[in-house]
Amino acid sequence: MARIVVHEAKKPMEIKVGNESKWICMCGLSNNKPFCDGSHKQAQDEIEGKLYRYENGKGVVVKRLIT
Ligand code: FES
Repeated sequence: MARIVVHEAKKPMEIKVGNESKWICMCGLSNNKPFCDGSHKQAQDEIEGKLYRYENGKGVVVKRLIT
């Protein structure tokens, strides 16, 4: 079985564990899930209304969501 999951977030979510901050990946690109590893920086230049697929650290537009 396969599945495609779409993430729209471009930054992590901070959670507090005691006095310590933990950063949870919300973009789906981290290689250290559930934690952020900074990979969300790849998604900063994404254009609204387009769908991107990431392979080997590069994003490719695969579909226009809004015409
Ligand atoms: S939010 Fe996903 S790598 Fe940072």
